[in-house]
Amino acid sequence: MNVLVAGGAGYIGSHTAKALAAAGYTPVVFDSLEKGHEDAVRWGPLIKADLADRDALRRVFAGYSIEGVIHFAAYIAVGESMKEPVRYFRNNVANTLNLLEAMVAAGVRSIVFSSTAAVYGDPETVPIAEDHPYRPVSAYGETKLMVERMLAWFDTCHGIASARLRYFNAAGADPDGETGEDHEPETHLVPLALAAAAGKRAHLDLFGTDYPTPDGTCIRDYIHVTDLAHAHVLALKHLQRSSQSFTANLGTGSGFSVREVLRAVERVVGRPVPVVEKSRREGDPASLVADSTRARELLGWTPTHSSIDEIVATAWRWYSRAR
Ligand code: UFG
Repeated sequence: MNVLVAGGAGYIGSHTAKALAAAGYTPVVFDSLEKGHEDAVRWGPLIKADLADRDALRRVFAGYSIEGVIHFAAYIAVGESMKEPVRYFRNNVANTLNLLEAMVAAGVRSIVFSSTAAVYGDPETVPIAEDHPYRPVSAYGETKLMVERMLAWFDTCHGIASARLRYFNAAGADPDGETGEDHEPETHLVPLALAAAAGKRAHLDLFGTDYPTPDGTCIRDYIHVTDLAHAHVLALKHLQRSSQSFTANLGTGSGFSVREVLRAVERVVGRPVPVVEKSRREGDPASLVADSTRARELLGWTPTHSSIDEIVATAWRWYSRAR
């Protein structure tokens, strides 16, 4: 069974392509390679095209018998989205409309969408459940929320069932070392801390030490990318079985402070992470931890790779090998 994976040459997309192949699907990757990597496409064909290209979308649905869609293709940098909102709304929202239009035309009835904890903004309560109010504090978060809302209307109007999966902090790399994180520019904590420990960066900027948390640094819920990938396969199967749309948080329910992550990096790498303490980064909430009860109950999903040490160890293996 062919599954169209938009953004399948990227970080979470490539891990999901691997998980799809392991589950017996053929991932048909649709990726412009603007951010994605050709060598991360190993489990099925690559169509090198952009979601802005409606003809290319029509051709892929006509050429392959696509049974479902998983959609990762988006810009993801929160800070950049505040400087260049036009690019974010055009790429993340308008281009998703092209994908949905092509799905309607082809009669494809299920889509798993890559959403984010950023739809909640500054949380009122932690852990955060799916019914927490939506108040994105970045244009990026708003783009994801807008697509979630579009998806609800495409279910009502066209019977397209959707899974809106809200990731907390994706981290780690494929345990077999076949794919991993490779963003340009890199903004995420784990790869930057590994680079600092490896001496490839002078230091890690630690953004904020005066948060109302036990050690003063931000708390996040780090979820292994392989666990996320597995959740997408379960979500697709659920949609195909039930045709019922749903939204689900994906996290472990345990939070780690930036300092705790840095200690894990030091344990794994065996070298200190040089740190320069900086002021807070704009838009960073003090604590983001998921209540993922729904994903566990509805999908039977259980993270199995998401101890902080396994996250960091797999990321380190990938980082060391990739250079
Ligand atoms: N951090 C640092 N120094 C760095 C990078 C990060 O101290 O050089 C800190 C951040 O302040 C934050 C934590 O490490 O407290 C994690 O930061 P990341 O940039 O790795 O991840 P974010 O929590 O900012 O963002 C992630 C996703 C976004 C998503 C967001 C949802 O990358 O796509 O979660 O809240 F929008």
